[in-house]
Amino acid sequence: MTQSAALASPALGGDEQIEIAAKAGLEELTTRLAQARGVEEILRVVRGGARRLVGADGISFVLREGDKCFYADEDAIGPLWKGQRFPLERCISGWAMLHGEAVVIEDVYADDRIPHAAYRATFVQSLVMVPVHADDPVAAIGAYWARPHRPSDQSVEMLKRIANSAAVAMTNVALFSSLHAAREEAVRAKDALILAMAALADTRDNETGDHIRRTQHYVRALAEAARGHGLYQPELNAELIELLYKSAPLHDIGKVGISDAILRKPGKLDAEEFAIMRTHARLGRDAIANAERYFGGTTGFLTIAKEMAYSHHERWDGQGYPEGLAGEAIPLCGRIMAIADVYDALVSDRVYKAAIPHAEAVTVIEAERGRHFDPALVDVFLEISPIFQEINSQFGSPA
Ligand code: C2E
Ligand code: SIN
Ligand code: SIN
Ligand code: SIN
Ligand code: FE
Ligand code: FE
Repeated sequence: MTQSAALASPALGGDEQIEIAAKAGLEELTTRLAQARGVEEILRVVRGGARRLVGADGISFVLREGDKCFYADEDAIGPLWKGQRFPLERCISGWAMLHGEAVVIEDVYADDRIPHAAYRATFVQSLVMVPVHADDPVAAIGAYWARPHRPSDQSVEMLKRIANSAAVAMTNVALFSSLHAAREEAVRAKDALILAMAALADTRDNETGDHIRRTQHYVRALAEAARGHGLYQPELNAELIELLYKSAPLHDIGKVGISDAILRKPGKLDAEEFAIMRTHARLGRDAIANAERYFGGTTGFLTIAKEMAYSHHERWDGQGYPEGLAGEAIPLCGRIMAIADVYDALVSDRVYKAAIPHAEAVTVIEAERGRHFDPALVDVFLEISPIFQEINSQFGSPA
């Protein structure tokens, strides 16, 4: 009789009572294992529930580490081998993992597979060891008793079920972590690719790639100051500002589709050339949409980047391109970028024009208040224009 049998209600037969309790206990353990998100959690669940379910004096959880068995965790009436490592060939958990089958040992001191010296310090007289994941064992679970006896079929069966649940849980954890790693990898790859594309686009019509970094910082400074004035709330929150900052490098990505003959033309563009030039807004949006399809799914970042690429040349008075939107019909990100973009173009040398000083650029932007630009944003710009100047000098201007 096990301890739990002693607690059985007299109304039911002892065995029946044990069986019901065991079933419920196993179900709970299995559910908790299925929800485990890491090996630590699997160990914790097994440690917390297996000994009572199996009716053993001790339980150990052994992880395979190459050709070693690592006794990772235990729950027992006396110390076993927690934290120790043994060669796979010279311990019973190794035997169970190598053979992919359960071992039942009535008397450990009568069995040659047991390293007897390692057992003398323990209470163990009999045991069951089952592999976790029989096809390709990654672990083993042992149950131990303080007296030599033949462990019951129910105990062996219960331990096998726990091991099977643990096997599923460990497979889930491995799958989960590899998916997680793949996702992180994809995000990093995407960020790197996008920055590379943006840098390529930028260096074709600018002397340096600094324009990208500068516009990023202008956009964030302007957006933060606007938010500080309570403008465009609740839309303009910290999360959107972060997305604006990240998306800014892509606003002119469509310029990769414009020929050098136009992009690098030292003089003024004629009407036909400028019509082609203007397509960079649509090309940019489409390129980002393609990247989005390629990477699968969308992110807030790419959504804003698309919108910014498409709308950064709209004008408040409706005379911009590509849609000729007016006022607040122009996406906020486009209205913010317009000021950052033009400021940077003005204070920089371009193949087609020379730079003008900061103060003159401020005057040009002020004159466009309510014409090219959102008047409320121009007011914010005028207030923080020294920050623009600071960013411009900090991130270098093209010579
Ligand atoms: P960008 O050179 O970066 O200029 C961005 C925007 O800044 C321009 O958009 C325009 O709104 C403003 N901007 C640039 N320079 C000046 C300026 O000297 N004065 C004033 N008031 N505003 C200025 P826009 O006009 O739609 O041009 C888009 C892009 O087309 C430009 O980007 C540039 O790459 C190209 N582009 C425009 N005009 C010419 C040109 O005459 N020659 C050449 N080669 N490219 C041009
Ligand atoms: C026990 O010895 O704790 C009961 C389990 C069994 O019968 O094997
Ligand atoms: C550039 O990004 O090279 C200039 C800014 C613009 O044309 O929008
Ligand atoms: C314009 O009105 O388009 C020129 C002014 C500017 O882009 O800043
Ligand atoms: Fe542009
Ligand atoms: Fe630009």
